Amino acid sequence: MTASPLKTGSTIGILGGGQLGRMLALAAADLGFDARIFTPEDDSPASRVAAGATVAPYSDLDAVTRFASECDVVTYEFENVPAATAEAAGAHAPLRPGPKALAIAQDRLAEKTFANGLGIETVAFADVVSPADLEAAIKTLGASAILKTRREGYDGKGQVRITPEMLKGPGWAEKAFAAVGSAPSILEAFAPFVHEVSIIAARGEDGATAFYPLTENRHEGGVLRESRAPAAVSPATAKRGQEIARAMLGALDYVGVIGIELFELPDGRLLLNEFAPRVHNSGHWTPDACVCGQFEMHIRAVAGWPLGNPTQLAPAVMTNLFGEDVLAAPELAKEPGARVHVYGKRDLVPGRKTGHVTRVG
Ligand SMILES: Nc1ncnc2c1ncn2[C@@H]1O[C@H](COP(=O)(O)OP(=O)(O)O)[C@@H](O)[C@H]1O
Ligand SMILES: [Mg+2]
Repeated sequence: MTASPLKTGSTIGILGGGQLGRMLALAAADLGFDARIFTPEDDSPASRVAAGATVAPYSDLDAVTRFASECDVVTYEFENVPAATAEAAGAHAPLRPGPKALAIAQDRLAEKTFANGLGIETVAFADVVSPADLEAAIKTLGASAILKTRREGYDGKGQVRITPEMLKGPGWAEKAFAAVGSAPSILEAFAPFVHEVSIIAARGEDGATAFYPLTENRHEGGVLRESRAPAAVSPATAKRGQEIARAMLGALDYVGVIGIELFELPDGRLLLNEFAPRVHNSGHWTPDACVCGQFEMHIRAVAGWPLGNPTQLAPAVMTNLFGEDVLAAPELAKEPGARVHVYGKRDLVPGRKTGHVTRVG
């Protein structure tokens, strides 16, 4: 077991080399840690700001073992780290958050079942492994629904919206199931939400917790475009958001930052959509508008340090930049109150996140 709190100069391993890993590595450096990145990608955004990087596939368990042996703690920036990779890393350094959070977050069915078990509401859902299951599920959940793969979906990928019109066509269930790759899936009733909100929260090694204000999120085509904080919700809804986060952090014996996506219904009730066992895109405004942002918060937590102060100092709007949007960074930087963040991706692929801008105040 690692000495806690981790000494300045210790090494924090991060599985994943994308923008979240990059911002975590920068936050780690700011507290005097060396970040080491494990990524299958040459020249990844995170590697270029870290103290070191291992480039190997996640399936290379020898490489994972060598990597973890050089780290004092290992964390991850994305939730699809294979279980065997997490286990190999966890055998040589503390893995934070632990394998339970990772396993549940990787499977939409397990995730919703887990939430319901804690008294947290979700949309109605059903397990679907065949077109026949899908037809049966539509009969109980209604014709307005979304079919999603249980695993590996992100940014709206691996999802098919089911509408009453679709059900009139012949073979609709076969087609819809084929459209999600005939993978084990979940059918979810469509949530009649008024807002999508999220809560970013953290739990330390000592069980202390921290909660950022609820954030309101606007998605387009399943992808986050904009986050506003604080969200315009009632005090009761804000309190419920915190209760949900507190219950989940405790039940998972969680260490680190968690991102919890919620649907707000017209009556103010909150349904859990999904959670990410990591820093979250809808928390990207926090370093610019709070005493301690989500990246530093996460590094503090996994290093066994005291949590930071999540108090928000000014209202904030965070807008994602996609593809070549990021080329406007110097223009955006002219705006007073704008903080621009560029992920340093070598290829500016249309539709992929390449940066974000936070407008504060
Ligand atoms: N059951 C649902 N009802 C209404 N909208 C939904 C539902 N599930 C997903 N969505 C919409 O699609 C977006 C992406 O779905 P989500 O389950 O969060 O997948 P991902 O893992 O791709 O983020 C959500 O943010 C929301 O806008
Ligand atoms: Mg989501």
